Amino acid sequence: MADGTARGGRLAGKVAVVTGAAAGFGEGIARRFCAEGARVLLADLDGENVEVVAKDLREAGHDAIGVATDVTVDADVRRAVTMAVERWGRVDVMVNNAGIAQSPTRIEDATDELFDTLVAVNMYGVFAGCRAVVPVMKAQGGGVIINTASTAAVRPRPLLNVYNASKAFALNLTKTLALELAPDRIRVNAINPVMGETGMLKVFTGEEEMDNDRRAAVVGTIPLGRMSTPDDIAWAAVYLASDESSLVTGHGLEVDGGRDV
Ligand SMILES: NC(=O)c1ccc[n+]([C@@H]2O[C@H](COP(=O)([O-])OP(=O)(O)OC[C@H]3O[C@@H](n4cnc5c(N)ncnc54)[C@H](O)[C@@H]3O)[C@@H](O)[C@H]2O)c1
Repeated sequence: MADGTARGGRLAGKVAVVTGAAAGFGEGIARRFCAEGARVLLADLDGENVEVVAKDLREAGHDAIGVATDVTVDADVRRAVTMAVERWGRVDVMVNNAGIAQSPTRIEDATDELFDTLVAVNMYGVFAGCRAVVPVMKAQGGGVIINTASTAAVRPRPLLNVYNASKAFALNLTKTLALELAPDRIRVNAINPVMGETGMLKVFTGEEEMDNDRRAAVVGTIPLGRMSTPDDIAWAAVYLASDESSLVTGHGLEVDGGRDV
């Protein structure tokens, strides 16, 4: 079941937009959503690779399209949402997953450029995704928003100062919008992954390749003894996107092997 090939119908008939879907967690979410019966628009800054993933999904018989999208640009985010509506008539699930990492940096060495870039992608990108999709969801009578936050929002590691704070924003926006949008039957939840085996890992650690000692030290902070994978995050997203979680809103779902306990 966890090999990414199992098929189910937990999201049958639903339309989803996933940002940051060319790689890592977003790719895993898009693939799993398709396997569960959703139609998916994959949006990513990396227009080439997002189309590679979308094409692969289409060749496997799924209804998926890829579009180059910079989540720091409002017009791009709105275009992605509009494309999904034009193609499928609605957006049931919006996954604001695109994000960037930061390398360990002392606060006195953190530049304005580092700050501005993290704010633009990790904060504005989530805000813009929520803002663009809410009118569509209100008009259709409801929907689900899922924001990829992080354990960093709850239990920060030192030296990832601006990144951690940007994820606290995503988590707080999630909770605030859950309350604001509950009357419109729009559920808003976050997923808080623990450090994961994606392209982001080398940025967080500041090392191109982690040696065994360093890996053991990181894994040692995770009670279940391993990092997260795209499929771990994707299964959590399937639950939050599906009607199985119809009473769940304003939640930060930790997929963290116990790190935040
Ligand atoms: N990997 C981890 O350890 C970890 C842990 C907790 C949370 N997260 C969060 O999970 C999310 C996904 O990260 P990942 O680990 O899959 O990283 P990743 O680097 O593998 O994938 C991120 C994707 O986002 C895209 N992206 C970057 N900037 C973008 C922009 N401006 N507009 C659109 N797309 C953009 C990239 O092109 C890439 O395809 C991020 O929000 C990240 O902060 C990651």
